[in-house]
Amino acid sequence: MTGMLIDKYNRRLNYLRVSVTDRCNLSCVYCVSPIHAIKKLPPEEVLRYEEILRIVRIGTSMGINKIRVTGGEPLVRKGLPEFLNELAGIKTLSDISLTTNGILLERYLEDILKAGVRRINISLDTLNRRKYESISGRDGFSRVWRAIEAAHEAGMNPIKLNVVAMKNINDDELADIAALSFKLPFHIRFIEYMPISSHSSAPELFLPYSEIMNRIKTLGEPVPVAAEIHDGPAVRYKFKGAAGEIGFIRPVSHHFCDRCNRLRLTAGGYLRSCLLSNDQIDLKTLIRNGENDDKLKSAVLESVQMKPHRHTLGVIPDYRAPAEMSCIGG
Ligand code: GTP
Ligand code: 5AD
Repeated sequence: MTGMLIDKYNRRLNYLRVSVTDRCNLSCVYCVSPIHAIKKLPPEEVLRYEEILRIVRIGTSMGINKIRVTGGEPLVRKGLPEFLNELAGIKTLSDISLTTNGILLERYLEDILKAGVRRINISLDTLNRRKYESISGRDGFSRVWRAIEAAHEAGMNPIKLNVVAMKNINDDELADIAALSFKLPFHIRFIEYMPISSHSSAPELFLPYSEIMNRIKTLGEPVPVAAEIHDGPAVRYKFKGAAGEIGFIRPVSHHFCDRCNRLRLTAGGYLRSCLLSNDQIDLKTLIRNGENDDKLKSAVLESVQMKPHRHTLGVIPDYRAPAEMSCIGG
């Protein structure tokens, strides 16, 4: 039966983001704290692929038709291409996409394409090799750039580049990054930094949309692109004559909770109906206790009913979302 996932505020949830691992091969400043190490889940606490697939199948029977695979970094998990293949075999899914930091992308590109994934989002916060290393802890810029080019040549479309805008870190480069869209058909999305982790040590990184836009406007006046039904959280723009687009994801200054269609499955097997709320349902324990599909469906519905009207980032001063991006997947 489809269309069952309607929350208290009449939002229809059809999109499940699946974090397949809390591990990552980078340690980006917006995700991990230099001071507090985030404890990694012991392997037995991470959902097995068959457990994820069971939850996805149950979700699709309730109206989920879009899946985005996230991490941590999804490509560090062994067997990911095979998992994507299994997902692609679920015919009720109309869209399977991947969010990655790109470090391992070139290596797995062919397998990912074979599995039918065409929509990919890649994190790229700078065009400067040394700055890439200082943001992410790894000298990986050239590797990621090669992977972006390879994905483009292989026909991935759209390729979305995620740029977390950070004051005094990459704000001097935002216009240069936006300028890539003149020649390249990518969707370059500038994301407001969310002080999300309980360990987040850097609220001072926050740069509001208005300032991000001011820096980008030095290139010219971006023209709004009409919203489409499958649009995610980004508001889209394009420079006249440009091959690609730019977009803005503004969770703090202009939340998009009223049109949020998402549920999230964490690497540890919890279902969350809001990125920025810690209310979650433990599906893993239900599965491992041998509960049947009806019991799991009730748990999914319970999670949907818990979905808050909106998050409070940017409303409550100094509020930090009590969540770990690495386990929830952004
Ligand atoms: P598509 O819409 O499927 O293309 O993906 P997306 O843009 O949602 O996915 P991606 O994984 O690239 O996320 C981009 C940024 O948007 C990240 O910073 C996410 O944390 C943020 N984001 C995505 N979904 C939500 C959401 O539901 N709430 C909030 N506050 N931020 C979100
Ligand atoms: N604020 C905003 N965006 C973030 N991302 C990760 N952490 C944060 C944060 N604190 C983004 C990265 C990644 C996406 C899944 O989430 O750009 O591409």
